[in-house]
Amino acid sequence: MVTIREEARRDIAARDVLLDMAHGASRFAKTSERLREGRMPVDGLSLVAVDDGKIVGTVRLWHVTAGPGRAALLLGPLAVDPAHRNRGIGTALVRRAIARARLAGHRAMVLVGDATYYGRFGFAAARTGELWMPGRYDRDRLLALELRPDALAGSRGLIAATGAFAPKPDLNVLIAANNRHARQPRVQRAA
Ligand SMILES: CC(C)(COP(=O)(O)OP(=O)(O)OC[C@H]1O[C@@H](n2cnc3c(N)ncnc32)[C@H](O)[C@@H]1OP(=O)(O)O)[C@@H](O)C(=O)NCCC(=O)NCCS
Repeated sequence: MVTIREEARRDIAARDVLLDMAHGASRFAKTSERLREGRMPVDGLSLVAVDDGKIVGTVRLWHVTAGPGRAALLLGPLAVDPAHRNRGIGTALVRRAIARARLAGHRAMVLVGDATYYGRFGFAAARTGELWMPGRYDRDRLLALELRPDALAGSRGLIAATGAFAPKPDLNVLIAANNRHARQPRVQRAA
């Protein structure tokens, strides 16, 4: 049975494998990534789908402003293991994220994605005509969902990251890890 729960530290490696599978290396080039890099996701809104102990789906949300002074959340990336698609896992992840965000008092969500998929949750381009992402994107893929009535009415301006900064990696830890890797025999390293 598939369960949805908050992501834990031990899930990070599996989540990254999943994202590589679903979005490829180009995921780091996406404009949405400019709003995520170096930031912490929203507390309690990094979710994973677990099937028989295996991470098969992931979604995270991020603090942004949708134009000056208008707090919102950015949804993404969303990914489901190709072997587990069309079982409702993506839907369950997005629905849970929306429910939790609403409960926590958040007012609106934005994302860049397929309207044909996200339309079922109420996301639409109706309120994003005067909003801009900080880079290239397809304008008709910039979608929003209001969690409070008219939360995005009249919103205009750049979507900007506002989440807490992620702690920088400790240089000594990176050097030690790199040295450990360099000391491994070549055959073992290639495996
Ligand atoms: C998009 C994704 C998360 C959907 O996950 P999932 O668990 O298979 O989704 P669900 O089972 O909840 O929903 C399946 C439905 O969504 C539809 N769907 C899947 N991807 C879609 C897309 N990009 N556009 C429109 N519809 C899509 C399926 O055709 C299916 O339709 P149906 O309900 O009419 O049969 C998954 O396909 C994925 O990881 N894709 C690669 C990454 C990605 O594109 N992520 C962001 C989406 S823009």
